[in-house]
Amino acid sequence: MPRLAVLPGDGIGREIVDALAPLFARLEEKTGETFDRTEGLIGGVAIDTVGTPLPEETVSLCQSADAVLLGAVGGPKWDHMPTSTRPEAGLLGIRKALGLFANLRPAKLFPALASASTLKPEVISGLDLLVVRELTGGLYFGQPRGRSQVDGQRQAVDTLFYTEAEVRRVVKMAFELAMVRRKHVTSIDKANVLNSSQLWREIAEEVARDYPEVELTHQLVDNAAMQLVRNPAQYDVVVTENMFGDILSDEAAQLTGSLGMLPSASLGGEIGLYEPAHGSAPDIAGKDLANPLATILSVAMMLKYSFSLHEIADQLEAAVDQVLADGYRTADIADAGQAVQVVGTKQMVSLVIERW
Ligand code: IPM
Ligand code: MG
Repeated sequence: MPRLAVLPGDGIGREIVDALAPLFARLEEKTGETFDRTEGLIGGVAIDTVGTPLPEETVSLCQSADAVLLGAVGGPKWDHMPTSTRPEAGLLGIRKALGLFANLRPAKLFPALASASTLKPEVISGLDLLVVRELTGGLYFGQPRGRSQVDGQRQAVDTLFYTEAEVRRVVKMAFELAMVRRKHVTSIDKANVLNSSQLWREIAEEVARDYPEVELTHQLVDNAAMQLVRNPAQYDVVVTENMFGDILSDEAAQLTGSLGMLPSASLGGEIGLYEPAHGSAPDIAGKDLANPLATILSVAMMLKYSFSLHEIADQLEAAVDQVLADGYRTADIADAGQAVQVVGTKQMVSLVIERW
C-alpha cells in the first residue's frame, strides 16, 4: 500500500489539501490501490501546536513514507519570529532532512491561459521550461549565518557556499532530465562576480562532457531574469543555485499566468516531496478562492516520480488542460477580457476529477 505523508501547513495549504480528498478517492478508484495518507504538522500550525516549525514526529513520518505532499507554510502571524524558528524553517528543515537537493519546477504554457499572462501571446507561445533549482545548499544553508552587534552596530551575514559534489549532483540531474526533453541545459550563475558561480560553471562544463548530445549554455543571472521575459521559449532545462532558482522560478511561473499554476517536485533522496510553488496566501485563505491546480499538478508529479504511474499522471495533467480549455478559472487566472466561468477551490477540484 503506497504511503503518503501529508503536511498541509498554513493558509491555503490547509484548505487545498482538504479539498483534494475526492481527488485521492478518484486515484484509488483508478489504481485499485489504497493511498494511505497520514497528516503531520509543519510551519506555523506546528509552532502553534507544539512550539516548533518541524517536530521530530513529522520528520520520522516523512522518512517512513513513500512520498510527501506539502501544502504551504507561513503567514503574518509568525513574521516577527527569528529566521531559525519561523514557519519557513520547517520547510527548509524537511528539505534538508530528506536530502532533497533538486527542486523541479516546470513552467508550461496552458494554451487556454495565454491571455492570463502579463506577456504578449507571441512571447510566451511555445513556453515549456523546467527550472531545476538546487535546494539544500547555497545562501539558504551556508555558514556562517546570523546576526550580531559590533560597536553598537547591528550586523548580519549569510554565506553562499557550495562544494563540488553539491553542484555536480544537481547539474547531473538537470542533464538527465534534458536527455528526455529537448536536450538543452542553460546553467545560470553570476560567474563574473561570485567565486561560487565560477565553481558552478566549471562543474557544469565537466558534467556536460558526459552528455555530448546535450547542448550547454551559460547565462548570467541578471541577463537570465531579462531573457525570461524577453524570449522564454529559448529555455528547455534551466539549472541554478538555490537563491537564483527561488527568484527565477517565481518569474517563470508568472509567464504561465499565475503562480497558482506552478507545481514542484523535490528529489534527490529516497523520498520525494511535492508542493505547489506558491505560498500560503493568508489573505485569501478559507474563502474558497485558492487555485488548487498547482497542488493537483504536484500530485501528478508525485504519481510520475515516486510511483511511476506515468499514464495516470499524464491523464491528470490532461484533465487540468481540459478544465481550462472548457473555460473554468479560479479568480487568480480569470482574465477580465475572457468569457470564462469563475469557480472556487472545491468546484475546481470536482471539475478536474470529472475529466480524469
Ligand atoms: C519556495 C518558497 C520558500 C523558499 C520559502 C517559503 C522558504 O519561496 O519554495 O520557493 O524560499 O524556498
Ligand atoms: Mg520561492
